[in-house]
Parts: sequence; C-alpha cells; structure tokens
Amino acid sequence: MTGWQNHPFKIQAKTGETIAFCMCGNSKNGPYCDGSHKGTGISPSVITYDTDTSVHACGCQQSKNRPMCDGTHKTINE
Ligand code: FES
Repeated sequence: MTGWQNHPFKIQAKTGETIAFCMCGNSKNGPYCDGSHKGTGISPSVITYDTDTSVHACGCQQSKNRPMCDGTHKTINE
C-alpha cells in the first residue's frame, strides 16, 4: 500500500479553522503536516475554512488534486 491509507480521510473543518495538509508524504500524522517536510523543498497546503466544511483529504497520496481526494484510491491495488 502507498500513502497513509487506501481511502480518504473524512474531516469536519470548522468555520475559521486552518489546516495544514501534508504535501511531501513524509508526515507521520497524515494527512496533516507534522513538520517532516523540512529540507525537502516542499511546503504543506494550508487552508483556512470560512464555513463548516466536510473535507475528504487524500489518504493514498496519489490524488492529482492533493491534498483533496480525487477518487484515485479506487484504482490502486493493495
Ligand atoms: S510534513 Fe509533509 S508537508 Fe509538512
């Protein structure tokens, strides 16, 4: 298996909440950035939500729309 898990993370973001999503793939706390990107030249995707929002964050790290899920996990064999 690649990534953190083979399905998306369902996250309920609250109004005004800022979430830093890992884009480097090294986080031990995916899909969230844990600072492990240091030295990679890759930065997290930081999103502030202006309304309560249901988010499906990529778990497999293969989405073309990272940090969000695009359904690519359905095509990956474990
Ligand atoms: S740990 Fe991956 S972007 Fe921060």
